[in-house]
Amino acid sequence: MNQYQLLRDIREVLMYYSAIGIERIPQSLYKSMEEVMYSIEGLNPSGDTDGQKKEKLLKSLREEIGECTRCRLSERRTNIVFGEGNPDAGLMFVGEAPGEEEDIQGRPFVGRAGELLTRLITKMGFKREDVYIANVVKCRPPGNRKPLQDEIETCIPFLRKQIEVISPKVIIALGDVATRALIPDAKNISRMRGRSYRQGKIYIVPTFHPSYLLRNPSHKILTWNDAQIALKLLKEV
Ligand code: URA
Ligand code: URA
Repeated sequence: MNQYQLLRDIREVLMYYSAIGIERIPQSLYKSMEEVMYSIEGLNPSGDTDGQKKEKLLKSLREEIGECTRCRLSERRTNIVFGEGNPDAGLMFVGEAPGEEEDIQGRPFVGRAGELLTRLITKMGFKREDVYIANVVKCRPPGNRKPLQDEIETCIPFLRKQIEVISPKVIIALGDVATRALIPDAKNISRMRGRSYRQGKIYIVPTFHPSYLLRNPSHKILTWNDAQIALKLLKEV
């Protein structure tokens, strides 16, 4: 039997399981049925576009997170802030953690820092819906303190999974926490910004966090320069 035929048979079996209501293959594989079926390349009887596939995969990841109690941040949060935007975006923004307004609304960057980020996105020539916006940590740390190392380590598999699904060309890392989460051995943000760092197929462009820019508006020009680096990469790669 050739490999193609074999894959098709495996897919048939999975589709049968799926039809009788089995949604997940063993948890240890950490994959939804849908994802396994999609990963059998070239076989796509549902006729989904890349964007539709990615949207479904993100939805199943959100279900995987559930009403998370994996770390102490769950005790005081109102809403989990998963992330939002175009599942097939070429450009992704990664922040630190939800703040007060984000916790209330369950959406990323909708407070004061979010207004500034939205302005940056617009100035770059995009709409918010064109890009994808997520955070390193999905629940608000009390009093907006920095997320602790163990909280970051517990939550970051979900960001990694989002990145893997969306597969953006460029990620703009907003501030120290995002930069350290995305680039191994990162130094502080002032030393990291101003250039890109290739991680596999993705270019990471670190810049200041919008909350920092609200306190230090004279540095906005530097973030604008970093945005140019991202735009150039989006055109080239
Ligand atoms: N700051 C962040 O890092 N993320 C948000 O979603 C909002 C504020
Ligand atoms: N500290 C951060 O976490 N982010 C910045 O952008 C600047 C300082």
